[in-house]
Amino acid sequence: MSVRIGLISDIHVDLNRIQGEEVVTSLLALEAVRRKLDILLLAGDISSDYALSLKTIKALEDASCVRVLFVPGNHDIWNENYPGRTAWESYEALLEHPGNLARGAAALSAGWTAVGDLGWYDFAYGDPSFSRADFKRMSYGKRTWQDKIKSVWDRSTLDMHRLFMERLEKRLIEAAKTNAVKKSANVNFVAAATNAMQDADQAVSLDSGATGQKIIFVTHVVQIREFTVQNPGPQWKYFNAFLGSPEYGELALRYGTKLSVCGHVHHRQQYVRGETRFVCPCLGYVTEWPAPADPEKQIAETLQVFELGPREAIPLTNARGQAAVERDSNA
Ligand SMILES: [Fe+2]
Ligand SMILES: [Fe+2]
Repeated sequence: MSVRIGLISDIHVDLNRIQGEEVVTSLLALEAVRRKLDILLLAGDISSDYALSLKTIKALEDASCVRVLFVPGNHDIWNENYPGRTAWESYEALLEHPGNLARGAAALSAGWTAVGDLGWYDFAYGDPSFSRADFKRMSYGKRTWQDKIKSVWDRSTLDMHRLFMERLEKRLIEAAKTNAVKKSANVNFVAAATNAMQDADQAVSLDSGATGQKIIFVTHVVQIREFTVQNPGPQWKYFNAFLGSPEYGELALRYGTKLSVCGHVHHRQQYVRGETRFVCPCLGYVTEWPAPADPEKQIAETLQVFELGPREAIPLTNARGQAAVERDSNA
C-alpha cells in the first residue's frame, strides 16, 4: 500500500497570467492526473486573496479528482483586496477547506501523517550587521516587506513565529505518538492495547533521537538556512530576515520527519540532512521564468512527486527533470 504525493508551492494564480489568462490551475490539474497523484500538496501562496485561493483549490480538485492538502502562505492572508481586514480573518476563512493542514494533522495512507501550518519569521536569517530594531521596521532603502502593510495580526512578528512553533510542535508530538502506537501495534497487538500510550510517551520523551518518522512536515516559510538567498547583496542581507526561521527545520529534525516541505523563497531545491529530505518546490512568478514563458514546462519541472511507501518516501523521477538535491556533508 503506498500513496503518491505531488509537492508544489507558490503557484500565485492571480499573478501568473499569460496574455491576461490564468493558466496555472488547469495545467496543474492536468499534470496531477498525468503523474497519477493521489494527493497534491500546496505549500502556500496560492494567490493574494483568500477567496481566490479557496476557489482555486476547489477547481484543482474538481478538474483532477485528486485530494488537495495545503498550508496558507503569507500572500493568501493579505488584505490588499479587503482594506481593514485582519490576517486572522483570512487565516480563519481558509480553515473552511478540509485540506488545510492548519486545521490539524491529516492521516494519509501507508501510515503517513501530514503536519503543517503557515509559520512566520524571527529575523534569524537576516544579516547580523542589522539590529532587531532594524528588522522590526521591515523596510530597507525604498522597499518595504509587504507583510508589514498587508498581514495585520494582533501581535508582534516574533510572537506570531512563537505561536506557529508551539502549534506545530504539539501536532508533531501527536503524530509521533500515533506512529509509536502503530509501531507497537505491529510488534504485539495485545501489548499495544494496554501499553501503547505509555510506549508513545516514552518515544516522544526521546524526541532528540527520533529518526525516520513517516511524517510530512509543511510550512510556507523557509525551514533551513540553505534555502535562503545565498551570497545576498545588501537588499537580501536585510530581507532574508523575513523568509522564515531555522527553528522550523530544527523541529523537523528533532521529530525525525522524513519529508519537510516549504515555499516562500521561489527556489526549486532539495536538501537531505540525515533522514530528513527538505524540499522547496516553488513555481514562482511568470516574471521569474525563462522567456518565452512556458507554464506547462515550469509546472512539470517544479512538481516533485514521491511514493510514500511502508518505509520510505521514494522520489519519482520526472522526464522533465528533478530539482537539484544537495546532501549535508556531515550527515
Ligand atoms: Fe511566493
Ligand atoms: Fe510567501
